[in-house]
Amino acid sequence: MKIDGVAYRTIWLAGDGWSVEIIDQTKAPHDFALARLTSLEEAAHAIRAMLVRGAPLIGATAAYGVALALRADPSDAALEQACAVLLATRPTAVNLRWALERMRRHLSALPPAERAAAAYAEAAAVADEDVVINRAIGEHGAALIRQAALRKKPGEPVNVLTHCNAGWLATVDWGTALAPIYVAFEEGIKLHVWVDETRPRNQGASLTAWELNHHGVPHTVVVDNVGGHLMQHGMVDLCIVGTDRTTATGDVCNKIGTYLKALAAHDNGVPFYVALPSPTIDWGMADGVKEIPIEERDPREVTELTGITADGRIETIRVTPAGSPAANYGFDVTPARLVTGLVTERGVCPATRDGLLGLFPERRAVA
Ligand code: MRU
Repeated sequence: MKIDGVAYRTIWLAGDGWSVEIIDQTKAPHDFALARLTSLEEAAHAIRAMLVRGAPLIGATAAYGVALALRADPSDAALEQACAVLLATRPTAVNLRWALERMRRHLSALPPAERAAAAYAEAAAVADEDVVINRAIGEHGAALIRQAALRKKPGEPVNVLTHCNAGWLATVDWGTALAPIYVAFEEGIKLHVWVDETRPRNQGASLTAWELNHHGVPHTVVVDNVGGHLMQHGMVDLCIVGTDRTTATGDVCNKIGTYLKALAAHDNGVPFYVALPSPTIDWGMADGVKEIPIEERDPREVTELTGITADGRIETIRVTPAGSPAANYGFDVTPARLVTGLVTERGVCPATRDGLLGLFPERRAVA
């Protein structure tokens, strides 16, 4: 997507032909900063500390992390070690495991001398495929927004609510939940996006709002608890969110608070769609609540807030009493029964095993 007229992806091979550049998302929205990754350790740090985040981008960064590791040491042991280090960075988004398994499968079959070049090529393929997949999600999801637009009075916008950031910053380009919004907006459909702030790390307020702002898409940031109220008053036509792991049965795990939005949507008859690329499907899992590992992060993300002062300084403040402990669960699971449809690169399907297998019949043998 474009920033001030310049097209960017979130990750790319640097001009030197071996290091990897990323947009440092910890600096957004107050600064647009790039960072350079030169080693396995730096790639792992970028994922763990959330310089990059969002399920598809975590996967692409891990793939490049393997390439950086093999450039330094292409041995079997180094490949195993790189995959282990990267896999341990974040537990919930299954795209991480998917990308590492793909890299390991492809590279372990090659002689060590050929592995580094092959790893860079495979990482580039992972990134390029993500862009194509997300654009297709955008096309399929835009049809839902188009249908909603037909039900609006002339001149009224379609109101879409989204949670967290599942935009182009969460992927290599386009995004998942925001891709349909971008496609519909480019088609000229009048729309407006309710952006959940997404405490504690505020990916909605800082990243989704930043993206939509740069793209000129009308939007309003709301605190996380507003969604139910908006839906009770007919102010949301549909919800679209992303997911970090989707079970073979259609349960979706996404940023903490997603489940409450799905409950409110269900109670108010508001369609609740989840947009996902197929590498986010964990075909080996059936019960999301019981089986998906939920990341727990540093409680200081809850007790502290970072922002910009009126005179332009970035400052961190504490909002809780010094003695109060905090818990920081990063994700929750929305059961399939609350999901109206899954928007994938192959189309929209019911959030069921049959629905997913209808779009991905090649998984019948393994699912
Ligand atoms: O903790 P984050 O910022 O990595 O969480 C991101 C999300 O929850 C996104 O909604 C999800 O990865 C889908 S992104 C296309």
